[in-house]
Amino acid sequence: MQPPEGYRVRKMDVRDLPAVLELEQKVYPAPWTYRMFLGEVRNPLGWTRVVEVEGGELVGYLVSRYYGDVWHLMNVSIDPEHRRQGLAGFLLDELVLLAADGGVDLTLEVRVSNKAAIRLYERRDFQMSGRRPAYYHDNREDAYIMMRPHEGQIEAPRKGRRG
Ligand SMILES: CC(C)(COP(=O)(O)OP(=O)(O)OC[C@H]1O[C@@H](n2cnc3c(N)ncnc32)[C@H](O)[C@@H]1OP(=O)(O)O)[C@@H](O)C(=O)NCCC(=O)NCCS
Repeated sequence: MQPPEGYRVRKMDVRDLPAVLELEQKVYPAPWTYRMFLGEVRNPLGWTRVVEVEGGELVGYLVSRYYGDVWHLMNVSIDPEHRRQGLAGFLLDELVLLAADGGVDLTLEVRVSNKAAIRLYERRDFQMSGRRPAYYHDNREDAYIMMRPHEGQIEAPRKGRRG
């Protein structure tokens, strides 16, 4: 798979963290800290990626971790000026492939108000699998738990169901 034209995707490196942190602080009301990113970059069970403009600035990243029986998507962020070009979709597709190849499920939490992200996940066959009350500390917003079962476990649509 190739990223959208004009962009490059590669593994996240410790040297990326200042730029990652700058974007994180631009995007989230309760941003991750340097130490949190460092822990994930160094984690041997982590799968991290950054997106950069070819020959230029860092404009997105994805952080995920393997927990033995499930992949957890922990953070995906794209610079507002580079959204709706398929960048998050590309990163997510790579992670979906990784999980599917390993025959494991993929899970994540998302703010119940985050329509853009929920749409992104639903288009990749994630399903709502629960809700965590007051999961986010900044405003006590609930999180949906979303799960993408690996191929064998996707339920067949019920008979007579529309759409
Ligand atoms: C959510 C986010 C990562 C999407 O990044 P992106 O690169 O713009 O997403 P893509 O261009 O790959 O979009 C893929 C699909 O997601 C959905 N989507 C993305 N942004 C959307 C929006 N603003 N409104 C509705 N649907 C949206 C669409 O289905 C889109 O497909 P389409 O463009 O063919 O309609 C980005 O908006 C972001 O960084 N938001 C802030 C951080 C965040 O909320 N991260 C998720 C935390 S759980």
